[in-house]
Amino acid sequence: MKDNLGRNIDYLRISVTDKCNLRCKYCMPAGGVPLIPHEELLTLEELYRVAAIFAGLGIKKIRLTGGEPLVRKNFIWLVEKIHAISGIEEIGMTTNGVLFAEKAEDLKKAGLTSVNISLDTRDKDVFAKITGVDAYEKVNRAIAMALEAGIHVKINCVPCKELNEDSLLQVAELAKNAPIDVRFIELMPIGCGKEFTGIASDALLERLEYAFGKAQSYEGKLGNGPASYYAFPDFQGKLGFISPMSHSFCNSCNRVRLTAEGRLKLCLHSDKGMELKPLLRAGLSNEKIKEQIEAAVLGKPKEHHFTEEQAEADKRKMFQIGG
Ligand code: 5AD
Ligand code: SF4
Repeated sequence: MKDNLGRNIDYLRISVTDKCNLRCKYCMPAGGVPLIPHEELLTLEELYRVAAIFAGLGIKKIRLTGGEPLVRKNFIWLVEKIHAISGIEEIGMTTNGVLFAEKAEDLKKAGLTSVNISLDTRDKDVFAKITGVDAYEKVNRAIAMALEAGIHVKINCVPCKELNEDSLLQVAELAKNAPIDVRFIELMPIGCGKEFTGIASDALLERLEYAFGKAQSYEGKLGNGPASYYAFPDFQGKLGFISPMSHSFCNSCNRVRLTAEGRLKLCLHSDKGMELKPLLRAGLSNEKIKEQIEAAVLGKPKEHHFTEEQAEADKRKMFQIGG
């Protein structure tokens, strides 16, 4: 499926819940948030139906996100069903890892191809400070179990001056002795993210080179997103940078998003999109829904501007969009 600018859209991110079992300071307000009432969420059957409709439109890769996807009951059923859709070549998920270890085997069997585990520090106490929960060991085990199950592992780390600046080299070192890719994501001024100070990718790359030796830009295929990857001497995995603040990657954007309530979002940073839930619940045929999605995707925004969008940013919450 193409948009008006000729970008090929073959990647759909589906948020299966806005709930999360952690409270990362830059993402969730400590006081909690009003959750979407359960009946407003798409059911798992509806999520499956949407995935099948999108596969018919040329989507090849699906990523399941949250909140935390593993807090949704019967999540593995959804993975299994999506795996059986013809045209879907890859299923990834983004998780905080807390509930992942004991499910790794079953997720692999269900068809999960890769997992992005969010981890901002390897210090147990700093982890508890950032996330509000003493669960570092569980996430560490999740990484080990994913590797053991043969699921490709990427780590997502959000460098943040106030929270984990001293932890970054240790997180990077996860890529040294195992085939794990570690990606550093520039903090975006979304929701609680506005209260913290991110670290620019270029500055971090310099620090990593100082610590680990000269990096070589890696041009091979690794994932299908906006990360730029580097190979470091004696590292098994690559280090990557996702730089929405310092380097725009909008011109090669290949993705659209579905929120847990069934809103199709055409850009992480824009309200542009359409409500799919009413269509799904009004008894429209898949064919009709497909036509409407195709028409909506044509209007995918060209690019994002954090500064101009500051006012609008106030309404957006990362845990409701799924990253
Ligand atoms: N900016 C950048 N990344 C964020 N994440 C959550 N909030 C933000 C933000 N404001 C990250 C999480 C997780 C991924 C889904 O998004 O750390 O790794
Ligand atoms: Fe949960 Fe992810 Fe937000 Fe942390 S960043 S609170 S793990 S949704």
